[in-house]
Amino acid sequence: MSPREDYVHPMQDLAREAGMLLLSFFGKVSIEYKGDADLVTKADRASEQLIVERIRKQWPEHDLIGEEGSRRETGSDFRWYIDPLDGTTNFAHGFPVFCVSIALEHKGQLIAGVVYDPTRDEMFAAERGSGSRLNGRPIHVSAIGRLKESLVATGFPSHKRHKNPNIHFYHQITLRSHGVRRAGSAALDLCYLACGRYDAYWEFNLNAWDTAAGVLLVEEASGKVTNFTGGPFNIDSREVLGSNTLLHDELLKEFQAIIAGRVEGLPNVPEYFPSNR
Ligand code: IPD
Ligand code: CA
Ligand code: CA
Repeated sequence: MSPREDYVHPMQDLAREAGMLLLSFFGKVSIEYKGDADLVTKADRASEQLIVERIRKQWPEHDLIGEEGSRRETGSDFRWYIDPLDGTTNFAHGFPVFCVSIALEHKGQLIAGVVYDPTRDEMFAAERGSGSRLNGRPIHVSAIGRLKESLVATGFPSHKRHKNPNIHFYHQITLRSHGVRRAGSAALDLCYLACGRYDAYWEFNLNAWDTAAGVLLVEEASGKVTNFTGGPFNIDSREVLGSNTLLHDELLKEFQAIIAGRVEGLPNVPEYFPSNR
């Protein structure tokens, strides 16, 4: 199997098929929990089963990691990252922002990634060195050069309640931009950055299957992805900061100030409602 084989086309077919499967469950599934808090539905598992079966059939010697537990770890040069349903909380509540995300790594480098949103029929696809596309057309990050003119995105772990200070970052960046959206799908957030709908995006505590395809999409669309201090992003990084490149230094400065505690405090709630005191 050569790294030059055309992966991105079969990946798109697979993501589309899995996305259609998700749609067939949309509005009809009940919520289950994995562990004590993490949401999962029948659709997550069915989608992963479909994707993993196809990969195993077509590329039996490749390693893979799927969010719902599929694993093959033999030290192969190739490794797949599969998020069979990114945006499970949205999906389970009938909120139509979710997708399938599939990425392929070769010798530690992401070489192809696809993200498919079945509700809008939007297929985002990237191949290293060949740019990023939305439904076949090349896409590029935005040209917004100042944070105060930007639209930004972030995410909060839905039900997992990781202890992280993101609410402070959310507050500060909201004050300094046109707004911060929290739509509930990390993979789509990255794709929307890649095609210029957002100008920047950050999040804490993501997993490789959330970010792998989206990060390649951003980079191939001339965006930049690092950790919160400007160091290189790698697939196991728990922090991701992506931008249209132009905003990156300004964001890093803001993040440094927030990390150092040089911030405008959050409003005091009881003071805001004096009659309740
Ligand atoms: C979640 C989504 C969400 C992000 C969470 C992720 P899931 O993935 O990407 O936007 O904020 O941290 O876990 O659980 O729906 O696949
Ligand atoms: Ca996810
Ligand atoms: Ca998922």
